[in-house]
Amino acid sequence: MSRMTVEQLRQDLPMAREAAYFQTGTYGPASDSVLRAVQETMESEARHGPATPAGRQAHMEREAAARSGLARLLNIREEELGIITNTSQAMQQIVRGIGWQPGDEFIMTSLEHVSTYGLSDVLAQEHSVAVKVIEGDQKDAALLEELASAVSERTRLVCLSHIASPNGRLLPVKEAAAIAHGAGVPVVLDLAQSVGQMPVDICALDCDFAVGSGHKWLLGPMGTGYVFISARHIPGFRPNFIPDRNPWTLADVPTPEATARSRIEIGTYNHALVVGLGRAVEIMESIGLDTIQAKAAYLTSRLRREIAKMERARIITPAETGKSAGITSVMFDGFTKKEMDGLVARLQARQKAVVKAQWLTAPPDPVKVAMRISVAAFNSEDEVDRLLEGIEEGLSSRA
Ligand SMILES: Cc1ncc(COP(=O)(O)O)c(C=O)c1O
Repeated sequence: MSRMTVEQLRQDLPMAREAAYFQTGTYGPASDSVLRAVQETMESEARHGPATPAGRQAHMEREAAARSGLARLLNIREEELGIITNTSQAMQQIVRGIGWQPGDEFIMTSLEHVSTYGLSDVLAQEHSVAVKVIEGDQKDAALLEELASAVSERTRLVCLSHIASPNGRLLPVKEAAAIAHGAGVPVVLDLAQSVGQMPVDICALDCDFAVGSGHKWLLGPMGTGYVFISARHIPGFRPNFIPDRNPWTLADVPTPEATARSRIEIGTYNHALVVGLGRAVEIMESIGLDTIQAKAAYLTSRLRREIAKMERARIITPAETGKSAGITSVMFDGFTKKEMDGLVARLQARQKAVVKAQWLTAPPDPVKVAMRISVAAFNSEDEVDRLLEGIEEGLSSRA
């Protein structure tokens, strides 16, 4: 595929014609190219009959290309990749694949996504697992020190987000993995907020498992996610007790090697969505994730510079270079969730600017709420300025 520019991507996004969209951290907008790839695959299956050779042909090659494209983007082997519907489900598959015993420990940070919090509650209630939560709101060195003292011989899994959902902080995941591995403990990384925003090399991060979404920064179709299981864990990893042989397998046919796909994906899935995700990955690759990251960084620094001048605003995303990417979370003095919801709605109505009111704690504390602004490479300077203007107006109308 020939090289594509960020501007060409923007032209291809129906959403960009409608609004200044700063919600890619929740759901990224799909491009016309992605929509076309999904539609063509579904139409072709429908026209030929999905279970006919021609119907199968409609998606098989493109799907194979999609799977290898995503594996290449993540720098993993194809057999280490499984594709499912979203990060939350992917995380469930990994965490539930650990054979938990009462008294085992699960370690996560306080900045994990609410779905991981929910999962940790289940581990505690149903499996009597001790859940240890590391404070995410501290400097890297202190966080790593806390992790090192939390890991014990009962720890079975450490879970960290690469970029934290509430405040956009980049966590020191590689260093954390080294600490966990030093104690023989595997690590699962939540890549939902990093892949598609910046180059992410799973192999270099040296984790055991990783999960992420296609429908956020990758701008893939809604309801796509992925799982990485390191080759060294595949043979022993059985979250769903899928048999390696089924009763119809002929005795003289060798059992195929287990893969992340055979361990994670069960039954029929939507081929067209996988093809659409493949198209989204192709677009990312053709622009280049370095370019994507640099453009978002430029817009983000413009945004933060101006927000920092606003009297009642406090940016809670770490300011140091390399400690965040395109997400900026801002608190406004005295704002409750209700008031933040009001400001978010006002921005949508007056500026056609879409941002999120983000809880900062689980369970929610009504005064710990931020505006989460997800700046993507496809956003424009005009959109950032429109948003800033809207925030200023909203704050002064409340004063
Ligand atoms: C870090 C993180 N993990 C998990 C999720 C859940 O993603 P999904 O909706 O794809 O399950 C999110 C969603 O915002 C997230 O930010």
